[in-house]
Amino acid sequence: MNAIPTLKLIDGKATAMRVLAEVREQVQALRQRGVQPGLAVVLVGMDAASQVYVRNKVLRAEEVGIRSLEHRLPSDTTQDELLALIDRLNQDPAVNGILVQLPLPAHIEEHRILQAIDPLKDVDGFHSANVGGLAQGRDVLTPCTPSACMRLLREACGELSGKHAVVVGRSNIVGKPMAALLLQADCTVTVVHSLSRDLPALCRQADILVAAVGKPRLIGADWLKPGAVVIDVGINRITEAGHSRLVGDVDFAAALPQVAAITPVPGGVGPMTIAYLMKNTLIALDLQQQAAHQERTACLSPC
Ligand code: GUN
Repeated sequence: MNAIPTLKLIDGKATAMRVLAEVREQVQALRQRGVQPGLAVVLVGMDAASQVYVRNKVLRAEEVGIRSLEHRLPSDTTQDELLALIDRLNQDPAVNGILVQLPLPAHIEEHRILQAIDPLKDVDGFHSANVGGLAQGRDVLTPCTPSACMRLLREACGELSGKHAVVVGRSNIVGKPMAALLLQADCTVTVVHSLSRDLPALCRQADILVAAVGKPRLIGADWLKPGAVVIDVGINRITEAGHSRLVGDVDFAAALPQVAAITPVPGGVGPMTIAYLMKNTLIALDLQQQAAHQERTACLSPC
């Protein structure tokens, strides 16, 4: 196989190392002032992929000096028991970020759980207060994967203003917040999904294409405008020639000659998502400190 031209590769692993170095430095400065940020990660049940994701999140937190508090609960945990834990974490001043790993077991209502998290500790950015804040362009906690994609895009494209971005997929975790962030960066944004008519033609309009559908190699070279910048969020496990491997939503080998730049899978968006979870934990701490300051000054000012 020919070597991949490195200039075309958007190296998420290397960028994630830089983001984590920035976070580590900020954590050190905080700890010198006697503050150690804390991240609580909650996993309900035994989903194999979720167990790997949670372990990686906890390890990364420890590496950058964030105190990680892991809560592994059995699959038969009731909704009320989970709500009681979230309430305790909301009240705990040592906890600055709360992440409940999804998916949850079917008997637990995901929306009820996400809405129970204090919006200032919602490092996933899934609470409706944060979703609404993002839509309004306010300074709120934003979902990790789309925020990570924006950093990769800024580094790969420079100025994003005026570019036509096509987001493939409309999930609450990636597609919708991705579209909101691109709009905030003054892109022209199209969101397409499984029921869109003539998906390839819509994708061919993209200067920037963000693929987040979870369908292995759905997007081939004929879906891409020459010179497009492609961010592949998909992480799909397939078996090929008897070997298990990870591939994206984009047919990487076919796309490569066509694009200006592309994220590989693995090594693209994946490592960046965890790095942005660490960054969001520090943003959450900052928002909490600001809120506490505002509360103190409100108490001091005469009514
Ligand atoms: N499961 C898959 N992706 C995510 C994510 O970004 N956050 C949480 N909490 N669960 C997930």
